Amino acid sequence: MLKSIHSGVLAGCILGAMTMSASEVPTIVKSAAGGQLIVNGKPFLILGGELGNSSAGTAAQADSVLPRIAQMHVNTVLMPVAWEQIEPVEGKFDFSIQDHWIDVAREQHLHLMFLWFGSWKNGFSNYVPSWLKQDTKRFPRAVSADGYELEILSTLGTETLKCDAQAFSVLMRHLREKDRDQQTVLMVQVENEVGYLGRGRDRSAAANRLFASPVPPELIHKLQNARNSFSPELRAHFKSTGTTWPEVFGDAADEVFMAWNYARFIQTVAEGGKQAYPLPMYVNCQLPAPAERAGEYPSGGPHPYYLEVYRVTAPALDFYSPDIYWPNFEYWIDRYKFSGNAVFVPEARLESAPYNAFYAYGEAGAFGFSPFGIESLQLSPNANGSGPGINDVYAALSSMSDMLLSAQASGSTRGLVLHSNSPRTAQTVALGDYLFEATLSRSWPTKTLLTEDGAMIVVQTNPNEFYIAGSGLSVSFFRDPDTDNKLCGIANIEEVSRSGGEWLTVRRLNGDQTNQGRQLSMSPHEVHIYRVVLYATGRTPRIE
Ligand code: DGJ
Repeated sequence: MLKSIHSGVLAGCILGAMTMSASEVPTIVKSAAGGQLIVNGKPFLILGGELGNSSAGTAAQADSVLPRIAQMHVNTVLMPVAWEQIEPVEGKFDFSIQDHWIDVAREQHLHLMFLWFGSWKNGFSNYVPSWLKQDTKRFPRAVSADGYELEILSTLGTETLKCDAQAFSVLMRHLREKDRDQQTVLMVQVENEVGYLGRGRDRSAAANRLFASPVPPELIHKLQNARNSFSPELRAHFKSTGTTWPEVFGDAADEVFMAWNYARFIQTVAEGGKQAYPLPMYVNCQLPAPAERAGEYPSGGPHPYYLEVYRVTAPALDFYSPDIYWPNFEYWIDRYKFSGNAVFVPEARLESAPYNAFYAYGEAGAFGFSPFGIESLQLSPNANGSGPGINDVYAALSSMSDMLLSAQASGSTRGLVLHSNSPRTAQTVALGDYLFEATLSRSWPTKTLLTEDGAMIVVQTNPNEFYIAGSGLSVSFFRDPDTDNKLCGIANIEEVSRSGGEWLTVRRLNGDQTNQGRQLSMSPHEVHIYRVVLYATGRTPRIE
């Protein structure tokens, strides 16, 4: 049923798209190492920032917001596009706000990403036009367990789907006309943090009827075939021999049912949008907090537990993204580092972004990272307390971006984050033939902590040469015993910077700055790039 709506509504957009080859537009290329965004034929690293929800609602805001963000070494701004604003009257579209943002972004040499705040934004439906909000008959609401209509559109409203898909495809067609030559807009997020908020699932009459019917055999079959990529949670619940939702998915039935319904809806919206203009498209996820039940966090959202349901239902989506606000950043980003996904973090806490960014790009192989509320970052000296700001991290990463992108593709990067409350005081990563052991920076000789947080990214450029960017860490180097037992040490360390493509030596670090040749001692509060050359040589046999 959903398919036929889509093909009827969007036929007009298909014709235009057929004249354009997909290789001309930005695209996601996946490999065993992860995925990269290709723009104008070359890998592109997104140094992103997402705007607050009320920061892109007028054209004039572009003039004040974008020039400031352009000073932060951000290269891509994620901005909401509200359905209520582009289609205030049914069938009448107005893209003047988006057009102005694109024009200003071009002047500021910034890229944009559009966030389609359509039927759902954080589970709720407050960005839909008021003509739609008021007509609950034509656009049915989800119903709570105690029988109340919610301010959440049901995924089963055929008119809702038709209108959302129509508006999105008109947006994409407009974008194609405005932007296909310059490609200021790189990608599009479809809806925002979908999922049902309430007990488990929508209890509208239509949803109850569907839930009382057998699980579609096609869904069971597709999941069977995808068994090898199941999450532990889906593996624990899925019983292919069952018929009803509870038989097949046990106590995850409500949630999987919602995931399937959101995924079907989004597939139709995204597929229609891509026929108009095939930019990469993805969905973002509000992640569960510890001990939360489905419905306390958006039930059926694209979180890692039942993501396979999306993957088999919504092939128009290019990748899946976590919005990571919880403290265990590493755990959540790693759950999106699965075969067939390209890692991108569209939202993260601005305060911890200067550290987590290094982990995202260096360890999780992310092609992009984007703290939320980027326009609120203060650029005045020390405005971010004693630590670095994301602007400092992006300055370093943008000068390393060519070597970082090729190292990501060959799996030659690592990254780590340490906090004063981390469970371990030291962390080690292996790269090439060496181990890199990091601890937080301490004073000498009292050994008091100089910072609460530290992080680094390590990029291998030659067998013995590494570029390390970060702050707040002391790093010791060891030969990886799995390689050999050669004697290893620091050949030299330079603090470097880049100007017009050339690397310049700012300082040669030695003596106290290398703990007498034994460690890289990073600045506790400032981000720098260090070129570290190590040596390994045969050991003199021990004299017995
Ligand atoms: C996640 C949402 O996706 C954002 O739009 C915003 O509401 C943040 N949460 C929190 O402010």
